[in-house]
Amino acid sequence: MPRQELVQKIGKLKAERGAIILAHNYQPPEVQDIADRLGDSLDLSRFAAAAGERTIIFCGVHFMAETAAILSPEKKIILPDPKAGCPMADMMRAEELVAMKRRHPGAVVVTYVNSTADVKAETDVCCTSANAVRVVRSVPPDKEIIFGPDKYLGGWVAGETGRQMILWQGFCPTHQKIFPEQIRDLRAKHPDAIVMVHPEVNPAATALADAVLGTGGMIAYVGHSPASTFIVGTEVGMVYRLQKEFPDRKFIPASKHALCPNMKMITLEKVAKSLEALEPVISVEPRVADRARNAIRLMVEIPKNN
Ligand code: 13P
Ligand code: SF4
Repeated sequence: MPRQELVQKIGKLKAERGAIILAHNYQPPEVQDIADRLGDSLDLSRFAAAAGERTIIFCGVHFMAETAAILSPEKKIILPDPKAGCPMADMMRAEELVAMKRRHPGAVVVTYVNSTADVKAETDVCCTSANAVRVVRSVPPDKEIIFGPDKYLGGWVAGETGRQMILWQGFCPTHQKIFPEQIRDLRAKHPDAIVMVHPEVNPAATALADAVLGTGGMIAYVGHSPASTFIVGTEVGMVYRLQKEFPDRKFIPASKHALCPNMKMITLEKVAKSLEALEPVISVEPRVADRARNAIRLMVEIPKNN
């Protein structure tokens, strides 16, 4: 079906179903263009919880839809491709976390939202890249902290807060593709550009950045900056999002290879199909959801770092 027809079909079905479409900043351009709301992980959790609509088409990856389903069990959360996962989230298993908690009794578990519901059920407080610094600062100074799954986000937060943390050894295979040499080369070619890097990037590259920010933080930062050119050290979908928001500025991806294949599994065809069939619905076993909800609620309540 031609793109325009598909877009019209989605609009019609959305109205009939009383649904809202949420999309992450890394979604393919055509999916970003049909979304009612775009955002980072924290924004999307908040939008899903606040939405008046009972049906949410969540264009993102599994842990994001799962988080929305835990926060709003009364809503139908639909992920157009249920295989859109997050390899970093899969690097942390609940049984291993339970074993680590046993080795560190009394430690506070701070878990990145990029994690499974089972891991969140063993967590004290979740965070996103947007509020991780504030979340860690909220932990009493005499408490040990276990932080996972992202060792790079954890290491960056440890540096920002001065808190020693026990770091899980997970990482994002997409952000792993951003190297310091690429940033050095781009800086040499564009000496006036501002370098923004996501905290999931390795520390050798974040050390070269002017600003280390989650995707929502990048949008806010550009909004306040007088600069005209930005080197963007995160998943490439972010360049489209920034360009859409700021058409008069120039955005250069730090690496064209930093592409999240899971984020790109969502297509217009799958969005239309999921609106038609009202599935696949993402649900979480109530026993797990009830244990995970408090950690997510705390995350949603804690403001962004900047
Ligand atoms: P943000 O919360 O910064 O949008 O990041 C989500 C993510 O998955 C980064 O890889
Ligand atoms: Fe997971 Fe990385 Fe994709 Fe984000 S970019 S969803 S952390 S694999």
